[in-house]
Amino acid sequence: DWNMPDYVAEAVANIRAQVGTDEVILGLSGGVDSSVAAALIHKAIGDQLTCVFVDHGLLRLNEGEQVMKTLGDHFGMKIVHIDATDQFMGKLAGVADPEAKRKIIGREFVEVFQAEAGKLSNARWLAQGTIYPDVIESAGAKTGKAVAIKSHHNVGGLPETLNLKLLEPLRELFKDEVRKLGVALGLPPAMVYRHPFPGPGLGVRILGEVKKEYADLLRRADAIFIEELRKTEDPISGKNWYDLTAQAFAVFLPVKSVGVMGDGRTYDYVVALRAVQTTDFMTADWAELPYALLKKVSGRIINEVRGINRVTYDVSSKPPATIEWE
Ligand code: XMP
Repeated sequence: DWNMPDYVAEAVANIRAQVGTDEVILGLSGGVDSSVAAALIHKAIGDQLTCVFVDHGLLRLNEGEQVMKTLGDHFGMKIVHIDATDQFMGKLAGVADPEAKRKIIGREFVEVFQAEAGKLSNARWLAQGTIYPDVIESAGAKTGKAVAIKSHHNVGGLPETLNLKLLEPLRELFKDEVRKLGVALGLPPAMVYRHPFPGPGLGVRILGEVKKEYADLLRRADAIFIEELRKTEDPISGKNWYDLTAQAFAVFLPVKSVGVMGDGRTYDYVVALRAVQTTDFMTADWAELPYALLKKVSGRIINEVRGINRVTYDVSSKPPATIEWE
């Protein structure tokens, strides 16, 4: 375990010694690891760092704005923000298979990032938020999904094609240490202690074919669920349900069911809520959320998100179900 202020000072000195006056580029995903890596490198070399933030249109509600506000406005980092929603949606049109969707999203991500990185002709380094468990995972056996995780997160192949050297200042840290480092660097705790979010984002939380219309509905339903989890405290532990769950999110089901609203009949989409408790994400229990909380969330989603008229709660544990639905 590290003493954080000492660790920061040492890491900053190392980064400065390593890169000298060179320029560095970093792919920002909105996730914890790349944000903390960016904050650390920015502290060390300031404007020699340029971040490229590729928005695939599959982020959570207001996530892009939050990244730009926190890292751009507040920290003053140089960030190139690319809204590539149309490009991603175009490539995903007609594709229903989960692994095919992952591959497309990963490949497009690399392509968009590469095109931007190519414009920054002075860059000599590619920075990545690789953490110690990623290093272990790469060395050991991999499942299909693990490979997809790696190739997406670490923008595989880029150093070779762009002729860049790799800068990975979080390589020795575990996740909880990365979070402590983030807080020590001044990142908002709510950002640093967020639930994990998969690289392909909402792309694997919209079952089957991804459409912008679906993503827009899902984002709003998901935000309501998260807001109510954060607001609802468990009287026994004194903690809120967001902190009592390891991952919680909404899943979009592209099937329609019948409902009533006022005098009329509706025929709209379904959303499933998923909340799990786990420490290692290899096994997970579905969370026994209070009925009152589920009632509040379903009522709000159905009333506030026109286009969704039914909400279900997923009571499947892992194994045999996975945490994500795809
Ligand atoms: P499953 O669904 O396999 O998920 O139980 C275990 C953990 O991995 C995350 N996950 C992903 N993360 N890219 C990622 O970066 C992916 O393609 C991916 N698929 C699953 C999932 O959110 C959970 O934390």
